[in-house]
Amino acid sequence: ASDLALRRAAELIREVPDFPEPGVLFRDISPMLADGAGLRAVVEALGRDCEFDVVAGVEARGFLVGAAVAQSYGTGVIGLRKPGKLPVVADRVSYTLEYGQATLELPADTLRAGQRVLIVDDVLATGGTLGAACRLVRQAGAEVAAAAVVLELTALEGRDKIMGEEVRALLQA
Ligand code: PRP
Repeated sequence: ASDLALRRAAELIREVPDFPEPGVLFRDISPMLADGAGLRAVVEALGRDCEFDVVAGVEARGFLVGAAVAQSYGTGVIGLRKPGKLPVVADRVSYTLEYGQATLELPADTLRAGQRVLIVDDVLATGGTLGAACRLVRQAGAEVAAAAVVLELTALEGRDKIMGEEVRALLQA
């Protein structure tokens, strides 16, 4: 039943040609998350059969899904943020994008050593973002329970950047 719900939810993903640049087919999960049954299917599947103590959601769309997963499974949620947003930073990891650099920051007084963390984001593309999130978790002495995304863009082979952790993708394109 839950797989059927997920398949129905997947039909709500909107494909937008030539965004953010010509030749790229952008997959917008916003309509799926805006649908009650869609959101429920995604949230349930992201946390299913996984032992975790806390969820870490990646800015920005990972916040939406991550907070819903945390609430649904009865844990707290941590927002991994882009630079310049947090008043007190526990740690930061920078990573390389196709053009330039990006950074993720962990808020102070959130993650504790030994906790099992379910990392949540909307899309796995090149894997830089999810890889950085995994490093932040490990550097805090915590454990990655799984790195979970709604959609994996398999052609970009981002999964290969996240060696040694369980990568779970609900949908692949
Ligand atoms: C998107 C997406 C992931 C990341 C995946 O975020 O939400 O976080 O890119 O890409 P990667 O696997 O190549 O690292 P984006 O940078 O668009 O930020 P936003 O969610 O704040 O819009």
